[in-house]
Amino acid sequence: MVDPEDLAREFEREFGRTPRLYRAPGRVNLIGEHTDYNDGFVMPMALDRSTWVAAAPRSDDTIVVRSREYHETIAIDDRTEPAQQHHWTDYVRGVAAVLAGLPGGADMLIASDVPIGAGLSSSAALEVACGYALLDLANRPINLIELARACQRAEHEYAGTRCGVMDQMIACFGREGQALMLDTRTLERRWLPLPPTLRILVCNTMVKHQLASGEYNARLADCEAGVRILARCFPGTRSLRDATLAQLDAVRGESPDQIHRRCRHVIAENARVEAAARALSDADFEAFGGLIDDSHRSLRDDYEVSCAELDAMVAIARGLGCVYGARMTGGGFGGCAIAVVDASAVDRVSRQIEERYEFATGLRPDVWVCSAGEGVAAWRPAEALHYGGHRGRGGQTL
Ligand code: GLA
Repeated sequence: MVDPEDLAREFEREFGRTPRLYRAPGRVNLIGEHTDYNDGFVMPMALDRSTWVAAAPRSDDTIVVRSREYHETIAIDDRTEPAQQHHWTDYVRGVAAVLAGLPGGADMLIASDVPIGAGLSSSAALEVACGYALLDLANRPINLIELARACQRAEHEYAGTRCGVMDQMIACFGREGQALMLDTRTLERRWLPLPPTLRILVCNTMVKHQLASGEYNARLADCEAGVRILARCFPGTRSLRDATLAQLDAVRGESPDQIHRRCRHVIAENARVEAAARALSDADFEAFGGLIDDSHRSLRDDYEVSCAELDAMVAIARGLGCVYGARMTGGGFGGCAIAVVDASAVDRVSRQIEERYEFATGLRPDVWVCSAGEGVAAWRPAEALHYGGHRGRGGQTL
């Protein structure tokens, strides 16, 4: 885990000045997958793992950024360089470019507790932490909605993933002990306290996901095709958020099977998020878990974004007692699953998942209990106990 004081010392050695420190969290999404670019509902929670930035202003316009994980220092002289370079600095360059008009450059040192490529939104954590740092160093007022939107745009234009806004919003607005029910059309936010009798286990399959591979954008294109078909019959349909399953059935004859199944996932998943929010408020964990299970089946069969390792992880978790539900989380094609577990059994369940997954796949998973953490902030030493690096078994922190 990143020790912020250690990071500050490393910055001083590297750049010869005292930095300010910032952090933004990764996330898991409890339910509402691939709904955010369809104007739908999502229910993420911020991780208690973050990407950290130590930063200080420079007298010229260059951004010099060093990554502890990649052991690289890169100078970004021209923020308008061609967009995608397929390098980790795309995110930093993108955010700096999108937040146009920021005066001056910065030295930055980045370190992260959020595993990369595990579907835990390490890229949004990096974008939001850097964007917040650059605004703060320039003494600009920080509007978190604008920051989230700017980071989403950076991801579109500089990383090439036409993502929704869920990851950037939760990196900005995460709250300790609570999940966020977010309407991605209106950005209306409702907080859902996570009951102490429930635990969320994050189970990393250790198979890296490749969102940029084009599959993500292909799903978006399928959804857009579905909207065009629906809108011919139901003119008010601007996005899949506006459609019902009955309407989708009505245009069955005009939709290729693949488009039909993609749309069926999104429309049903939106309804599941609303039902899950009610179940959580009513402390009906069986109902909540059942919706999580349904979400996984739909992502696997209709949306086709799961993979053999995620399915194995979910099946193993579901086969254990005291597990209410399990599913893949994030974009898919690898990365992490979550299991919703009764707090009394969490140690046993996590041990059994580790053993059985390794036995089934030969891969050693990383399984940990995740508590909901806070959104982006400048770091003050009083936070050390919360976010400093001494919380048991860490993950892969590439
Ligand atoms: C990625 C994207 C998000 C969202 C999820 C799938 O994490 O960045 O915007 O679409 O996939 O729910």
